[in-house]
Amino acid sequence: MTVQTVAIVGAGTMGNGIAHVFALHGYETTLIDLDEPLLDEARGTIEQNLTRQVEKDAIAPADRADALDRLSFTPDTASGVAVADLVVEAVPEERSLKAEVFGTLDEHAPDEAILASNTSSISITWIGSQTDRPDRVVGMHFFNPVPVMTLVEAVRGQRTSDATYDVVADVADDLGKHPVEVDDYPGFVSNRVLMPMINEAIFCVMEGVAEPDDIDTVMTLGMNHPMGPLTLADFIGLDVCLHILEVLHDELGDDKYRPCPLLRRKVTAGQLGRKTGEGFFEYE
Ligand code: 3HC
Repeated sequence: MTVQTVAIVGAGTMGNGIAHVFALHGYETTLIDLDEPLLDEARGTIEQNLTRQVEKDAIAPADRADALDRLSFTPDTASGVAVADLVVEAVPEERSLKAEVFGTLDEHAPDEAILASNTSSISITWIGSQTDRPDRVVGMHFFNPVPVMTLVEAVRGQRTSDATYDVVADVADDLGKHPVEVDDYPGFVSNRVLMPMINEAIFCVMEGVAEPDDIDTVMTLGMNHPMGPLTLADFIGLDVCLHILEVLHDELGDDKYRPCPLLRRKVTAGQLGRKTGEGFFEYE
């Protein structure tokens, strides 16, 4: 199967980054979101991020113009996926929402279309079970900022076919990404390894082991991480980190994944990180 036309469902940070990358690599791309102001904002973000790439000489001005020509935006999921070869879902991490979205995709996308999810924590096997095509459901887990980060976790659900896996691995390659094959277990590899590190950094804050700035400095200067774990947690969103830790804790049943009480307290207070202007650090 050759993928030429893609639809991305969800115009948040991940969805607009995913649409950006597909359009830039020659795919006819439709970005779908019921929230029209969010769609407008996504268009502006993509335009700005493409401009940033032109200014950095990463792409030519004509590449930017071609990418924008290949992009369309709609609040209507049914028409947006009607001719898609591949759909990538990037809506918030709520099971009921994923079930509803995948029900709609299964009904309106062509029978042969592949339905991929960018989920960071919900089982691909479970998402597949919400459709009549579990063999064509697969995980395509991108990383923020999507135009920069070159990893895609390509996640095989219990019933994902080899043919489906091969198509998304080839597409990820074509996007200039490095696909890594991952089996369907909670948090896959990325978040299973990353989130306990972030959680432990938050325990260090709570226990007064060191100041947040200093904890991050240990990891940037000592381990060469581009961002310290607390800066990264603020970048990802503390609510997202808490949700992923809860999934790891519930589904793997091991207390080593218990979310730090300070993380819960910050989320309850609405201090969610960069997106709310305050998390472990303050933002303009
Ligand atoms: N679009 C296009 N280009 C972008 C961009 C965007 N949204 N954001 C940054 N860039 C480009 C910049 O133009 C710059 O390009 P250059 O190298 O050609 O000059 C380059 O990326 C670096 O950006 P900056 O100079 O602005 O800043 P930094 O050097 O501090 O890099 C960063 C920013 C790439 C975000 C870096 O700090 C980093 O790699 N941080 C770690 C990010 C990370 O770990 N992400 C994974 C999060 S986990 C996740 O997403 C999974 C989920 O399930 C939780």
